[in-house]
Amino acid sequence: MERTFVMVKPDGVKRGLIGEVIKRIEQKGLKIVAMKMMEVSKELAEKHYAEHKEKPFFQSLISYITSGPVVAMVVEGKEAVKVMRNLVGKTNPIEASPGTIRGDFAMDIGRNIVHASDSLESAEREISLFFNEEEILSYERADEKWIY
Ligand code: PPS
Repeated sequence: MERTFVMVKPDGVKRGLIGEVIKRIEQKGLKIVAMKMMEVSKELAEKHYAEHKEKPFFQSLISYITSGPVVAMVVEGKEAVKVMRNLVGKTNPIEASPGTIRGDFAMDIGRNIVHASDSLESAEREISLFFNEEEILSYERADEKWIY
Protein backbone atom coordinates (compact mmCIF):
# COMPACT_ATOMS: atom_id res chain seq x y z
CA MET A 1 0.00 0.00 0.00
CA GLU A 2 1.16 3.54 -0.73
CA ARG A 3 0.51 6.79 1.07
CA THR A 4 0.01 10.15 -0.61
CA PHE A 5 -0.51 13.71 0.57
CA VAL A 6 -3.69 15.55 -0.39
CA MET A 7 -4.73 19.09 0.44
CA VAL A 8 -8.03 20.87 -0.18
CA LYS A 9 -6.71 24.36 -0.96
CA PRO A 10 -8.24 27.62 0.34
CA ASP A 11 -10.54 28.02 -2.71
CA GLY A 12 -11.84 24.48 -2.21
CA VAL A 13 -12.55 25.16 1.46
CA LYS A 14 -14.20 28.54 0.80
CA ARG A 15 -16.36 27.10 -1.99
CA GLY A 16 -17.66 24.33 0.28
CA LEU A 17 -15.94 21.54 -1.63
CA ILE A 18 -14.28 19.71 1.29
CA GLY A 19 -17.03 17.08 1.35
CA GLU A 20 -16.96 16.67 -2.43
CA VAL A 21 -13.21 15.93 -2.37
CA ILE A 22 -13.52 13.54 0.58
CA LYS A 23 -16.50 11.78 -1.06
CA ARG A 24 -14.51 11.08 -4.22
CA ILE A 25 -11.51 9.78 -2.26
CA GLU A 26 -13.70 7.44 -0.21
CA GLN A 27 -15.92 6.23 -3.03
CA LYS A 28 -12.87 5.28 -5.10
CA GLY A 29 -11.75 2.98 -2.29
CA LEU A 30 -8.83 5.01 -0.94
CA LYS A 31 -8.54 5.35 2.83
CA ILE A 32 -8.04 8.64 4.69
CA VAL A 33 -5.61 7.85 7.52
CA ALA A 34 -4.91 11.41 8.74
CA MET A 35 -6.71 14.72 8.31
CA LYS A 36 -6.64 18.25 9.73
CA MET A 37 -7.95 21.73 8.97
CA MET A 38 -5.21 24.29 9.37
CA GLU A 39 -3.68 27.50 8.10
CA VAL A 40 -0.46 27.11 6.15
CA SER A 41 2.26 29.51 7.33
CA LYS A 42 4.46 31.28 4.77
CA GLU A 43 7.39 29.18 6.02
CA LEU A 44 5.54 25.88 5.56
CA ALA A 45 4.21 26.97 2.15
CA GLU A 46 7.73 27.79 0.96
CA LYS A 47 8.99 24.39 2.12
CA HIS A 48 6.07 22.57 0.54
CA TYR A 49 6.56 24.29 -2.84
CA ALA A 50 10.39 24.56 -2.57
CA GLU A 51 10.97 22.87 -5.94
CA HIS A 52 9.04 25.71 -7.66
CA LYS A 53 11.03 28.55 -6.03
CA GLU A 54 12.39 29.78 -9.36
CA LYS A 55 9.07 29.63 -11.21
CA PRO A 56 7.42 32.95 -12.16
CA PHE A 57 4.22 31.95 -10.35
CA PHE A 58 5.96 31.07 -7.05
CA GLN A 59 4.90 34.19 -5.11
CA SER A 60 1.27 33.97 -6.24
CA LEU A 61 1.27 30.27 -5.33
CA ILE A 62 2.49 31.11 -1.80
CA SER A 63 -0.10 33.90 -1.37
CA TYR A 64 -2.85 31.59 -2.60
CA ILE A 65 -2.03 28.66 -0.31
CA THR A 66 -1.68 30.96 2.73
CA SER A 67 -4.90 32.89 1.97
CA GLY A 68 -7.21 30.78 4.15
CA PRO A 69 -7.68 27.41 5.83
CA VAL A 70 -6.80 24.20 4.03
CA VAL A 71 -7.67 20.58 4.79
CA ALA A 72 -4.54 18.40 4.77
CA MET A 73 -4.85 14.62 4.47
CA VAL A 74 -2.83 11.45 4.23
CA VAL A 75 -4.51 9.02 1.85
CA GLU A 76 -3.62 5.35 1.65
CA GLY A 77 -4.25 2.62 -0.90
CA LYS A 78 -2.86 0.57 -3.76
CA GLU A 79 -0.87 2.95 -6.02
CA ALA A 80 -2.38 5.83 -4.05
CA VAL A 81 -0.15 8.49 -5.68
CA LYS A 82 -1.27 7.64 -9.22
CA VAL A 83 -4.91 6.98 -8.29
CA MET A 84 -5.17 10.29 -6.42
CA ARG A 85 -3.57 12.27 -9.30
CA ASN A 86 -6.12 10.71 -11.66
CA LEU A 87 -8.99 11.71 -9.36
CA VAL A 88 -7.66 15.29 -9.16
CA GLY A 89 -7.07 15.74 -12.92
CA LYS A 90 -4.59 17.88 -14.86
CA THR A 91 -2.97 20.88 -13.14
CA ASN A 92 -4.63 23.32 -15.54
CA PRO A 93 -8.37 22.90 -15.00
CA ILE A 94 -9.06 23.98 -18.58
CA GLU A 95 -7.36 20.74 -19.68
CA ALA A 96 -8.65 18.54 -16.86
CA SER A 97 -11.15 15.92 -17.98
CA PRO A 98 -14.77 15.97 -16.85
CA GLY A 99 -15.13 13.45 -14.04
CA THR A 100 -11.99 14.70 -12.31
CA ILE A 101 -12.18 17.16 -9.41
CA ARG A 102 -10.51 19.98 -11.36
CA GLY A 103 -12.38 19.05 -14.55
CA ASP A 104 -15.71 19.27 -12.77
CA PHE A 105 -15.18 22.28 -10.47
CA ALA A 106 -12.38 24.59 -11.63
CA MET A 107 -11.44 27.05 -14.40
CA ASP A 108 -8.16 28.66 -13.30
CA ILE A 109 -4.69 27.13 -12.77
CA GLY A 110 -4.17 29.46 -9.81
CA ARG A 111 -7.39 28.23 -8.19
CA ASN A 112 -7.37 24.52 -8.82
CA ILE A 113 -9.02 23.37 -5.56
CA VAL A 114 -6.81 20.49 -4.54
CA HIS A 115 -3.20 19.35 -4.34
CA ALA A 116 -2.01 15.74 -4.59
CA SER A 117 1.62 14.59 -4.47
CA ASP A 118 3.18 13.91 -7.88
CA SER A 119 5.47 11.02 -6.81
CA LEU A 120 6.14 8.68 -3.92
CA GLU A 121 9.20 10.75 -2.94
CA SER A 122 7.15 13.99 -2.90
CA ALA A 123 4.43 12.22 -0.92
CA GLU A 124 6.86 11.15 1.81
CA ARG A 125 8.38 14.63 2.00
CA GLU A 126 5.01 16.44 2.05
CA ILE A 127 3.47 14.06 4.60
CA SER A 128 6.40 14.66 6.96
CA LEU A 129 6.02 18.45 6.57
CA PHE A 130 2.35 18.40 7.58
CA PHE A 131 1.99 15.42 9.94
CA ASN A 132 3.76 13.70 12.82
CA GLU A 133 3.91 9.91 12.63
CA GLU A 134 1.48 9.68 15.64
CA GLU A 135 -1.17 11.61 13.70
CA ILE A 136 -1.30 8.94 10.98
CA LEU A 137 -3.75 6.24 12.03
CA SER A 138 -4.23 2.63 11.13
CA TYR A 139 -7.63 0.99 10.70
CA GLU A 140 -9.46 -1.35 8.36
CA ARG A 141 -12.31 -0.16 6.17
CA ALA A 142 -15.34 -2.44 6.53
CA ASP A 143 -15.39 -2.88 2.74
CA GLU A 144 -11.63 -3.42 2.33
CA LYS A 145 -12.02 -7.10 1.40
CA TRP A 146 -14.44 -6.10 -1.39
CA ILE A 147 -12.24 -3.24 -2.67
CA TYR A 148 -9.20 -5.54 -2.96
S1 PPS B 1 5.66 22.82 -13.40
O1 PPS B 1 6.01 24.12 -13.97
O2 PPS B 1 5.19 21.86 -14.40
O3 PPS B 1 6.71 22.24 -12.53
O4 PPS B 1 4.49 23.13 -12.44
P1 PPS B 1 3.41 22.14 -11.94
O5 PPS B 1 4.04 20.92 -11.34
O6 PPS B 1 2.42 21.93 -13.04
O7 PPS B 1 2.76 23.01 -10.82
C1 PPS B 1 3.38 23.27 -9.61
C2 PPS B 1 2.40 23.88 -8.65
O8 PPS B 1 2.18 25.24 -9.02
C3 PPS B 1 0.84 25.44 -9.38
N1 PPS B 1 0.87 26.27 -10.59
C4 PPS B 1 0.46 27.53 -10.65
N2 PPS B 1 -0.03 28.34 -9.71
C5 PPS B 1 -0.33 29.62 -10.11
N3 PPS B 1 -0.18 30.09 -11.35
C6 PPS B 1 0.33 29.30 -12.32
N4 PPS B 1 0.49 29.78 -13.55
C7 PPS B 1 0.67 27.97 -11.98
N5 PPS B 1 1.19 26.91 -12.66
C8 PPS B 1 1.31 25.90 -11.80
C9 PPS B 1 0.23 24.09 -9.63
O9 PPS B 1 -1.13 24.08 -9.31
C10 PPS B 1 1.05 23.23 -8.71
O10 PPS B 1 0.52 23.25 -7.40
P2 PPS B 1 -0.15 21.92 -6.78
O11 PPS B 1 -0.58 22.33 -5.42
O12 PPS B 1 0.92 20.87 -6.79
O13 PPS B 1 -1.29 21.61 -7.69
